[in-house]
Amino acid sequence: MKKEERYFAYAKERFVRLQGKGVILTGATGGIGKAAARLLASLHCRLLFLVRNVRAGEELAAQLERTYGVEVKVFPYDSLDREAVSKVLSFLTGEKPYDYFLSIAGIYHQPAKMIDGIEQTFRVNCLASLELILRLSAAYPDMESVQTLSLTYRTKSSYQGKDLSDALSFRKYLASIHSRNKRYGLSKRFLMQALIAARHQGMKIALAHPGVVCTNLFNPKNKAYPRWFYRVAPPLMRVIFMPAEEAALSLLKAAADGSKEGTIVGPGGFLHAWGYPKEYQYRRDILRDTDRIASLLKELMAL
Ligand SMILES: NC(=O)c1ccc[n+]([C@@H]2O[C@H](COP(=O)([O-])OP(=O)(O)OC[C@H]3O[C@@H](n4cnc5c(N)ncnc54)[C@H](OP(=O)(O)O)[C@@H]3O)[C@@H](O)[C@H]2O)c1
Repeated sequence: MKKEERYFAYAKERFVRLQGKGVILTGATGGIGKAAARLLASLHCRLLFLVRNVRAGEELAAQLERTYGVEVKVFPYDSLDREAVSKVLSFLTGEKPYDYFLSIAGIYHQPAKMIDGIEQTFRVNCLASLELILRLSAAYPDMESVQTLSLTYRTKSSYQGKDLSDALSFRKYLASIHSRNKRYGLSKRFLMQALIAARHQGMKIALAHPGVVCTNLFNPKNKAYPRWFYRVAPPLMRVIFMPAEEAALSLLKAAADGSKEGTIVGPGGFLHAWGYPKEYQYRRDILRDTDRIASLLKELMAL
């Protein structure tokens, strides 16, 4: 069996619960999202892509419909559009309900850029993902959601001792972070904390991270790294790291197993960067401040 076929066989054998279900995805035009969409289509799922690049979404939809005979719809979604979630929710009122939502869209290592007063990494990865998942969960309480995090959720809580007494001081603190890595790590950490708080209030939200994969995140058009990096790193990364299908299995496992207290699903291999999915306990320090961070993020969402 070819390597890629093994992932499809793995999904078919282990994720019977997902067979034939309705699944909404963001990020389907990216590396991990596209792999997740292909695996789900092979399980005969009915899919809805919420994508910024509608043309790329429609091309993938047509390809999956041809190959697997499944229904795939595409709806425009740019998480920087402040009306995006309301548009999605009003579209969904006319739709047969969906069973799962996989939140995959994200940006990595971008230069600092303020969008409506919030630095873009926090706006896209944290606030926009949070708003979509919370409002979908509130509108469809039976829907299981999976948030794609990153190993960097373990980024140190360097906000300790900062003035985070209200949303405005929190916003000021976010704008003061100069390291791209730290912005990315904290955007995922804060999102995770807010989602744990939402789960404590009964929302069905599972957490997953895909390990390390060479995707469009490492495309020169993202301008995340100096030019020399793109000549050297991506070809090596493609050899060293796992394919996107293997990474996407962690998201499917998190959906199939459902939301569980204290756990995250990620690759089970070396440093959780490679391998088939495994559920493990996340570090307990992430539980510190969950309610406070959740309420600050909600206040920021409203600004
Ligand atoms: N690759 C890794 O090693 C790795 C490791 C840990 C976590 N992750 C996480 O996995 C997720 C997927 O990453 P990937 O590696 O597949 O990256 P990718 O190939 O760059 O895909 C990113 C996806 O997010 C979408 N997106 C970005 N900004 C958006 C916006 N404003 N509105 C709507 N969609 C937007 C992109 O849409 P366009 O096609 O329109 O650009 C694309 O579909 C991210 O959340 C990332 O943080 C990745």
